[in-house]
Amino acid sequence: MNLGSVKENINLEKRISITPDIVKKYLNLKLNVFLEKNYGQHVGIQDKDYEDAGAQILQSKEDVIKKSNITLQVDFPDENLFQYLNENSSLIGLFDPVKNKSVINKIIKKKVNIFSLELLPRITRAQSMDVLSSQANLAGYRAVIETIYKFNKAVPMMMTAAGTIPAAKILIVGAGVAGLQAIATAKRLGAIVSATDVRSVAKEQVESLGGKFLTVDSNERLEGEGGYAKEASEEFKIKQKELLKINIAKSDIVICTALIPGKKAPRIVTEDMIDVMKPGSIIYDLAVSQGGNCAYSESDKTVDKNGVKIIGERNILNKIPITASNLYSKNLFSFVNNLLNKDKDKININREDEIILKTLLDKEI
Ligand code: NAI
Repeated sequence: MNLGSVKENINLEKRISITPDIVKKYLNLKLNVFLEKNYGQHVGIQDKDYEDAGAQILQSKEDVIKKSNITLQVDFPDENLFQYLNENSSLIGLFDPVKNKSVINKIIKKKVNIFSLELLPRITRAQSMDVLSSQANLAGYRAVIETIYKFNKAVPMMMTAAGTIPAAKILIVGAGVAGLQAIATAKRLGAIVSATDVRSVAKEQVESLGGKFLTVDSNERLEGEGGYAKEASEEFKIKQKELLKINIAKSDIVICTALIPGKKAPRIVTEDMIDVMKPGSIIYDLAVSQGGNCAYSESDKTVDKNGVKIIGERNILNKIPITASNLYSKNLFSFVNNLLNKDKDKININREDEIILKTLLDKEI
């Protein structure tokens, strides 16, 4: 059986789906690995590195797709390549089914099985495949680094002969995967960190990382399934707003990571909160592509409101593509391994397996 991957549009997506280390693991499963020429060159991985690991390099995208029973990508291959996808082959990646219905339907018509890994259930057996967590963790880390790099002051407290420099105050909105890593990173860099979340269980996690938890005074239970949140009531939102308005005014940096699955991002940081922030403060909105947690945030732009910068990047993982690809390719390997039959010589679409059932898109949507 053949497994392949073609270069992404590197202006939009710098991550890759197969690293040289993972090639060896596929070969151990007796899969042949085909890659397009210069597949990893933009992240410093040369064709020779892949050949040394046992992959075969082909000249064009068409050649790779025509040969592959399993195609691994981050985003869709170009539409003009769909004609070369083999019937009954599998295409695996992050295809955002909510936004990309018509593209997905075109591929389904070609009798290709699409697996979109955003749909993975958050169950123990799927942890090694959990691309959302592996990538959000890195996004939380990098959002803090990006913001501090643009911040005009030092972050840790320093006592010097010339006087004491106070530590910067960083507030994290949403303490899920990205948020918890943002807290850990900000703490390591010496900031005074506080965080808020609608799930009360997040309090213990925030405190175990050395952050102060800002609790909204409410009895509402907002824990949903799989560690996700449920939407809050209007009454809760008003209370959260009061709490945040006071705390955002005191913060130098705010990192927004709040998410409710399948919904537009909750709008949490409002215009009036930004009005009372100090000039020089920075907000990083990781949820910008879901509509943003913060007023004024725009995809791939830095907006300046009276000296407060609001940053939103659609794909922060392009800033850390090697680490992101290392984890992504490992997640994909675990998924492929689970997709093969016992003898590892055929794809086995076992709809009784929750992992396969939930990620498979084989009917028009
Ligand atoms: P997650 O589901 O693990 O965490 C989200 C957290 O937000 C949860 O703890 C939830 O309880 C909390 N939340 C929901 N509503 C809230 C509210 N009103 N107030 C406070 N907290 C609230 O999600 P994860 O994986 O950490 O992702 C976070 C965000 O980062 C998502 O929007 C995701 O799409 C985005 N992301 C962006 C990337 C980029 O390149 N821009 C890369 C990776 C993730």
